[in-house]
Amino acid sequence: MFSFDDLVVPIAGAPMAGGTSTVALTAAVSAVGGLGFYGGAYLTADALRETIRQIRGRTDAPFGVNLFVPEKIPFDEAAFRAYRERLAPLAARLGADLPETVPYTDDHFEAKVQVLVDERVPVASFTFGCPDTAVVTRLREAGVCVAGTVTCVEEAVIARDAGVDALCAQGVSAGGHRATYRILGEDPQIDTADLVPAVVEATGLPTVAAGGVRSRDDVRALLAAGAVAVQVGTLLLRCPEAGTKPAHREALADPRFTETATTRAYSGRLARGLVNDFIATYTEAAPPVYPQINTLTGGIRRAGSADADVINLWAGTGFRAAQAIPAADVVAGLAP
Ligand SMILES: Cc1cc2nc3c(=O)[nH]c(=O)nc-3n(C[C@H](O)[C@H](O)[C@H](O)COP(=O)(O)O)c2cc1C
Repeated sequence: MFSFDDLVVPIAGAPMAGGTSTVALTAAVSAVGGLGFYGGAYLTADALRETIRQIRGRTDAPFGVNLFVPEKIPFDEAAFRAYRERLAPLAARLGADLPETVPYTDDHFEAKVQVLVDERVPVASFTFGCPDTAVVTRLREAGVCVAGTVTCVEEAVIARDAGVDALCAQGVSAGGHRATYRILGEDPQIDTADLVPAVVEATGLPTVAAGGVRSRDDVRALLAAGAVAVQVGTLLLRCPEAGTKPAHREALADPRFTETATTRAYSGRLARGLVNDFIATYTEAAPPVYPQINTLTGGIRRAGSADADVINLWAGTGFRAAQAIPAADVVAGLAP
């Protein structure tokens, strides 16, 4: 089974579902001795299987695949309707689809777990919750190293008790969705540098540090704090191998965008991105209704895909350090 101690370079690429993760990006990070990750959320099980085979076609090195763990909470229809009303003028302006009703989806969780088992991926990581012991055991028996993403010690202990091999400790400065287990829960808002030693002490598990990394010095500090490897997402967003939309790439380097914030405005779950008009306008109104709000805003995001004030510009606090260079150079620049 894969062990983080075997990595040539203790750097992991972040899984970035929704088009940013690509076969090329995942393979590029793994091929230079890091651990490339693919974000498997939003894909069908068949598409995920095909993607895994394509990654294997590009590199013999180990890589990881990440899934969202579903949490089914009661659907707050009134909150959904009120938010839909707020979005209606923007959808009309963009000529975007704004569905009246949205079905619940578990993102094909069970079928995708089976793909990870069948394909015996080297590493499977999970966010938004911890899979139960039966799922963790099935993966481990197939030789898959299982990592649980956590944002606080309580989540780390749950993951340890479910039998995971490793943790990914995601600090508050991380770009993209917060990994918090509960949709309705508060963000524990713990800095990566504080979270890593806390979860290592509580669980003794190998822990990958994620969130806000800008430089080799940051990597060294997190390794010194007890991390076995350091994961970067935002630093890869401008790489040519990434699937980042052009408007998102440009915004990361545009002096007009000066800060990041967490918001439920796009999906109903908290996520960190560059503050644009959409975040500034809708964050206050956005209810914790996930995954329905994510589907609801999909048409707006597609219709406005070239407009940085409409689309989600996921980014961590270290976004100014993201360079338009190949992923291999990002990894080499971070290697301690
Ligand atoms: C565009 C984008 C998409 C992301 N998608 C996922 C995902 O699908 N699964 C996941 O576990 N984390 C996801 N994340 C969070 C990363 O795994 C990681 O925690 C984060 O990028 C680390 O912080 P940094 O962006 O400051 O490097 C995403 C992050 C970004 C920037």
